[in-house]
Amino acid sequence: MRTNSFIPLSRPTINQEEINEVIDSLKSGWITTGPKVAQFEHQLCQYFNVEQCLTVNSGTAAWQVLAHCYDIGPGDEVIIPSITWPSMANVVELLGAKPVFADVDPDTAIMLAEEVERLLTPNTKAILPVHYAGAAADIDSYKTIIGNRNILIAEDCAHALGTTDKGQLIGSQSDAAIFSFHPTKNITTGEGGALICKDQDRLNRARTLSLNGIGKTAWERINQKEAHYELHEPGYKFNMLDIQAALGIHQLTKITEFISKRTLLAERYHQKLADINYITPLKADNENQRHAWHIYPVKIDIERIGLTRNQLIDALKKQNVGVGVHFESVHLLRFYREKYQYTEKDLPNATQLGSSLISLPLFPTMTLDEQDTVINALKNIAE
Ligand SMILES: Cc1ncc(COP(=O)(O)O)c(C=O)c1O
Repeated sequence: MRTNSFIPLSRPTINQEEINEVIDSLKSGWITTGPKVAQFEHQLCQYFNVEQCLTVNSGTAAWQVLAHCYDIGPGDEVIIPSITWPSMANVVELLGAKPVFADVDPDTAIMLAEEVERLLTPNTKAILPVHYAGAAADIDSYKTIIGNRNILIAEDCAHALGTTDKGQLIGSQSDAAIFSFHPTKNITTGEGGALICKDQDRLNRARTLSLNGIGKTAWERINQKEAHYELHEPGYKFNMLDIQAALGIHQLTKITEFISKRTLLAERYHQKLADINYITPLKADNENQRHAWHIYPVKIDIERIGLTRNQLIDALKKQNVGVGVHFESVHLLRFYREKYQYTEKDLPNATQLGSSLISLPLFPTMTLDEQDTVINALKNIAE
């Protein structure tokens, strides 16, 4: 039974300044896309040192407009690691293209470069590497394999706002990058996402696509005293609201502080979980990077503990500890398994991780006492 002392997988850090900013938006009479979205986009541009950035209402929507503006469609293939959130494959499917699932490194859950090599065909239009958990995927290794072929590398940075690789912020190394501001993420806007893209024409098209294909917000139409609008192409309704951006404006200023606290907790987990024999944390020992620690995933040795993953999750819940699963392997989810005839033998590492990963609670306001409760719950189960 859940009580007040229940420790969730994640809890957003919302302080008075976020609350005041949302109230300001609510009182202003303008709650949809407007000045606060413009301000949040401006801050994101400064953070990434880019000229333009598009905010939308989810990370999935950011990928949808990006994939659309690269004309991904029937006949195209997109290589996606099987350990990811299924919505990213769904976008490919919904555009009429084919998601091709790649196996991942068993120790990091990051897409293997040799898998990209194995799966490349003349129809490959894009690859979507995931910076899983907030660890940096080696984008150069994919670039080497792709060579000078015209293939989009879209970095899925949903977990990796603030991750750096060789001193560079993740998202700045390839053609485009997608971010998510879902409540569990490193910063949140309730729901929300962002896209950065080196090709400014495509980013402009993505913006138009995110606004029904009209491209101008109501705010712009009113402020430019230009009621007329044009339809450039059929688009989506993916715009971020000012009441969401009101959160983002303050959240973004705290990203370094959030990551420091997440890192402290992650390092403490490394130390204190070392002697629990049925748990193996994923590897994160890359001295070139700053890990953003969006989640703390561990592999469970199901045979050693003698419980199924669901039984373990239940046992933790009984001790007031909530965990998550990041992720089920997407190639084995019913729709993809049946449509493309995948079996467990196809991608052995992803298959294994998909049934044995759990993510432990990790969020900036987590106290060390709360973390000890999680660690003790895991120990109690071992005993
Ligand atoms: C790796 C990954 N990519 C993409 C997404 C999609 O983000 P959103 O939920 O904002 O659409 C998620 C969300 O959890 C994710 O974990």
